[in-house]
Amino acid sequence: MRKVLLIFGTRPEAIKMAPLVKEFKKYPKKFETKICVTAQHREMLDQVLSLFDIKPDFDLDLMKKGQDLYDITSRVLLGLRGVLEAENPDVILVHGDTTTSTAASMAAFYQKIKVGHIEAGLRTRNIYSPWPEEMNRQITGRIATYHFSPTKLSKKNLLDESINEDQIIVTGNTVIDALHLVLDQIRKNTNIQNDVFSSLVNVGISESKLESWISSERKLVLITGHRRENFGQGFENICLGIKKLAEKYPEVDFLYPMHLNPNVRKPISEVFLENELNNVVFVEPLEYLPFVYLMSKSYLVLTDSGGIQEEAPGIGKPVLVMRNTTERPEGLEAGTVKLVGTDKDLIINEVSSLIDSKELYLKMSEASNPYGDGFASKRIVEYFMNTL
Ligand code: UD1
Ligand code: UDP
Repeated sequence: MRKVLLIFGTRPEAIKMAPLVKEFKKYPKKFETKICVTAQHREMLDQVLSLFDIKPDFDLDLMKKGQDLYDITSRVLLGLRGVLEAENPDVILVHGDTTTSTAASMAAFYQKIKVGHIEAGLRTRNIYSPWPEEMNRQITGRIATYHFSPTKLSKKNLLDESINEDQIIVTGNTVIDALHLVLDQIRKNTNIQNDVFSSLVNVGISESKLESWISSERKLVLITGHRRENFGQGFENICLGIKKLAEKYPEVDFLYPMHLNPNVRKPISEVFLENELNNVVFVEPLEYLPFVYLMSKSYLVLTDSGGIQEEAPGIGKPVLVMRNTTERPEGLEAGTVKLVGTDKDLIINEVSSLIDSKELYLKMSEASNPYGDGFASKRIVEYFMNTL
């Protein structure tokens, strides 16, 4: 019996690790599967744990409002010392590029415990964009023994850093596994569709708006944002751009589920202090299932998120990315994703073009699936069956 400890802490890590947890748990004779959450996120993490029915064995419960990078790094390191000493797993698995995953990798390294890196090899090569994520994943990549790359391109990035080829496994991205899981549930189960509808009404979206998005009577622009490098002027520009677009297109709705970070919310409350536009709607972070449902009903997505850049191409939704760089060029190459930065006028022009030009819209909304087939978790577990 081999012991695997999965460590994660934020919403996107939980979404992308959930299918892997489920896959490991299918083989209780082969693997003792343990889960430790750092709770770098709290409410946004708990939403995902509850959806996928994951009960952590350890919860460091470290989220503090307004925590900075020193707080998170040091508290993950200190919190994991005892957990790793007590559990002494054969391998820990971490995900992507958060401070949780990098600090957890360091904590494991200090006890000479092997690290498997899920979603390995994404790179912009600019350590300040995204910040601190680019450096986080590079550090984790140096520490890791096993590298699970979502695409051939991410494998190549690791080969360029002299990582041994036999330690890199191309699996697809587990986010596509998670996406398939929830889309299947939504499609097959009308009770779930009704629950999703009710949960969206409960967060404050009117029934008539929802119905008009579902029937495509009104277009929905779905918006998310949270990148640290966009704090301040970047988010102010984003809000001003949304406001102008909402005035220009009263027949289009703009829905913004707001990240809980106060740096994201401040400019929203300043720019929309007296929000008299009934086609701009702000809501609390949505649970994953309702979010995916709305993404599937949206016209386009405006975001700075990493995960959404991977999900939206799979369901044929154009994504305008409010960043200057991306570590996910596969979506750009497929034509579904376009970088627009945080320049207000550029955001307005690019959204307008997609609303005004059917031809451009159709070109960008052709579904493509550069990030996998929904079997990434299966490949990762199979690998460990033969390796550990
Ligand atoms: C973190 C990750 C980022 C990832 C993002 C996903 C780091 C440095 N950043 O950024 O890579 O893309 O998560 O969303 O690892 N908050 C709550 N409740 C929550 C979550 C957040 O109140 O459930 C508020 C708190 O005030 C917290 C702040 O948001 O201090 C920022 O959270 P933090 O994890 O530091 O950064 P994110 O911007 O969420
Ligand atoms: N998401 C969600 N509810 C929301 C907004 C996003 O469930 O209100 C999901 C989204 O589908 C994706 C993930 O959260 O899977 C992305 O998280 P985020 O943008 O916070 O982080 P990133 O991917 O940029 O690290």
